[in-house]
Amino acid sequence: MLECLRLHPIAPAMTRTVTQDFDFAGYRVPQGRRVIVGTTVSHGLEACFTDPDTFDPDRFAPGRMEHRRPGAFAPYGLGPHICAGSGMAEGLIMLNLAAILRTLDLRGDPTYVLREVARPTATPDDRLTLRVTGVRHPAVSLLA
Ligand code: HEM
Repeated sequence: MLECLRLHPIAPAMTRTVTQDFDFAGYRVPQGRRVIVGTTVSHGLEACFTDPDTFDPDRFAPGRMEHRRPGAFAPYGLGPHICAGSGMAEGLIMLNLAAILRTLDLRGDPTYVLREVARPTATPDDRLTLRVTGVRHPAVSLLA
């Protein structure tokens, strides 16, 4: 789940309105200017993640913990308005995934190549399909 949030963050950036003039990378940014802060740009940097384009969930495992490098991992934003529900989100995602995988047999299309579209944030395009090939526990079926 964390590797999906790294490679395909739901909230890749944050918008802010500048309250005080400041300088950044040689540019003067004036008060009142709307800015987009690319909070997850670091997710794709080799300085932060080894072989960043590769799907590699083990990078979060004890011993590697690449996401703990300072400034590396920010799927929930940064600063005083960092997501207040990140723990709940992770619990719910894991719970729902576990319930779906325990209940259903699923088959994906092995020929599908992920293409992201913006709606408004990144999501797989309509060609992504998951076929239900069996129900393992009808009594607790999620389809009911
Ligand atoms: C994977 C799921 C989620 C992601 C990726 C996510 C991401 C974010 C991000 C990036 C922000 C910062 C927005 C900003 O600074 O402009 C944020 C703020 C917030 N999120 Fe989430 N969020 C998720 C789920 C949730 C859930 C489940 C809840 C509540 C149960 C929640 C509640 C909040 C709240 C209340 C804020 C505003 C915090 C503040 O302004 O101080 N989020 N979230």
